[in-house]
Amino acid sequence: MSSENITSVARESRKHTAPRDFQAQANIGSFARYRKLYAESVNAPEKFWAEQAAEHLLWRSMWKKVLQWKAPHAKWFVGGKLNVAENCLDRHLGTPRENKAAIVFEGEPGDQRTLTYKQLHQEVCRCANALESLGLRKGDRVAIYMPMVPEAAVAMLACARIGAVHTVVFGGFSSEAIKDRINDCQAKAVITADGGWRRGKIVELKANVDRALEATPSVEHVIVLERTKNPVSMQTGRDVWWHDVVSRASHRHKAKAFDAETPLFILYTSGSTGKPKGVLHTSGGYLLGTTMTAKYVFDLKETDTYWCTADVGWITGHSYVVYGILSNGATSVVYEGAPNHPEPDRFWSIIDRHAVTIFYTAPTAIRAFMRWGDAYPKKHDLSSLRLLGSVGEPINPEAWMWYFKTIGGGRCPIVDTWWQTETGAIMISPLPGAIPQKPGSATLPFFGVVPKVVDDQGKEVPKNSGGKLVITRPWPAMLRTLWGDDDRYTRQYWSDYPGIYFTGDGCRRDSDSYFWIVGRIDDVLNVSGHRIGTAEVESALVSHPSVAEAAAVGRPDELKGQALVVFVTLKNGVETSEALKETLRQHVAREIGALARPDSIRFAAALPKTRSGKIMRRLLKEIAAGGAVKGDTTTLEDFSVVASLQSEG
Ligand code: WT7
Repeated sequence: MSSENITSVARESRKHTAPRDFQAQANIGSFARYRKLYAESVNAPEKFWAEQAAEHLLWRSMWKKVLQWKAPHAKWFVGGKLNVAENCLDRHLGTPRENKAAIVFEGEPGDQRTLTYKQLHQEVCRCANALESLGLRKGDRVAIYMPMVPEAAVAMLACARIGAVHTVVFGGFSSEAIKDRINDCQAKAVITADGGWRRGKIVELKANVDRALEATPSVEHVIVLERTKNPVSMQTGRDVWWHDVVSRASHRHKAKAFDAETPLFILYTSGSTGKPKGVLHTSGGYLLGTTMTAKYVFDLKETDTYWCTADVGWITGHSYVVYGILSNGATSVVYEGAPNHPEPDRFWSIIDRHAVTIFYTAPTAIRAFMRWGDAYPKKHDLSSLRLLGSVGEPINPEAWMWYFKTIGGGRCPIVDTWWQTETGAIMISPLPGAIPQKPGSATLPFFGVVPKVVDDQGKEVPKNSGGKLVITRPWPAMLRTLWGDDDRYTRQYWSDYPGIYFTGDGCRRDSDSYFWIVGRIDDVLNVSGHRIGTAEVESALVSHPSVAEAAAVGRPDELKGQALVVFVTLKNGVETSEALKETLRQHVAREIGALARPDSIRFAAALPKTRSGKIMRRLLKEIAAGGAVKGDTTTLEDFSVVASLQSEG
């Protein structure tokens, strides 16, 4: 580590205010203005949201009631009608935005394409017509398993346009994971591609879909985009090519108006049990939340070229590659591949060549860039940048300072945005021209958001002490339920503190009332900004014939934030070996996806348990971190188990 970084750490408590010229042009340009709007938003929320909804969205008919709240169920803009795709596309037509770039695409092999708003609109209309001609209707579920290409956004918007509910499955998930998601929501169609490019290799998406579809009776149709031209098998009667059904369809499509509470998408995310949760978002409130946060947190302007590096398989890709960005009429950069292909300067080269002005990425990526070295960003002209963003996990102050100096040239504010799949839109973040930043803090809540840090009894904890982060009021972009499991929705989020949303995160507020998110406090890991449920990994492991019992825990990792360590006991007669470790790692990757492949597997004769038989994860975490087992071990059944685990480490 260079001495420069060490000084940065020492200055961690310093406040960074945006340069005066940034403030002067900002959508919210002073702290006083933020305070005023925030006060309005919490003192008269329904008035505030009604004004914002009228200003930011195009409604076909106005709502009768802004909010109907019967905890834990919210309905926003009750009786209002709109079409989400129309808001993202049609309303920009007939304005100077019509011929502006909506999507600037770069494929990993280097191919480039720009779609203007007019062209994107035509593509979405074609896709909407194709979906309707296959018999898809309002309310039908459509799974999307695509590389990061413009057609992924086209498919999402086409579903929105006809009122179908999309569920995007990240291209890194395995066929098992696709199958489970399709079966959970009973998807009628799948939109996929022959493959996608990743580090110079083809990810065989269609082959994965084929394997998943061996056990998904609900699927009637598969639309396949030709991207990589690798041979794929097409099942007659079920599979059709995008270039046959979409490209040949009419580019005219009349968008119907849908109720504001019409389901827009289901996105699966990990929780503390083995089964992923189908987070349901609806139309009006979600679009308002993403549109407003995009405009104010990213300070979006007509002239911006905005790039969020997230995949559409995650909520960040939904809210801040597609919906919130296009509804503002901005230009969204889409890049297909890896940050280090062909060289570790790919991102900087993209920023340079496309003159990106706003760049939004994850701390785990920033730490990798730091490690790869300053020479790569230094090779490129990054002077087009004016704002930087961070999301997915707490950003450590060293990474913050590096990002600020080396990428932002010391002139770009950084927005550290805290939110979740469930919250739909950014909840806690600096507004760059208004809220001074402190490296490592997400700072203050967005309009209408009322977060608190509380103890187990729900009492607010004093400044500078740790507690649980809760949100005390409903907000427009909040999830509405978990698909098919409303009980779990209530239990998971609303029963620790009745009527109050529990985030699952630990947090502290400092003497300026700034929020400092500590990370998850439930059995959920954050590996490279991805949420992985320990129970999912464990259930994948015990499905292997050699495994008797498994426990997954996180170990602090410089690059990934957390690394995944699993402790495994084997069935009687099975021998431990390095080969078996590799087999088990591959087994987890096959069951869930490569992102859940354990970093380290440790065989154990037994796992530390309480007298009542509960695995003591806290001890395993300490062992995984390589430290001594501290804290209370009085409930431990057999201390020799711990001793032997430590000696094997
Ligand atoms: C969890 C949500 C929201 C999009 C990406 C992840 C952690 C997210 C931050 C941040 C500290 C953060 C939290 C949260 N997280 N952003 N700026 N600072 N922690 O979405 O997969 O739903 O995960 O990511 O722990 O609960 P997700």
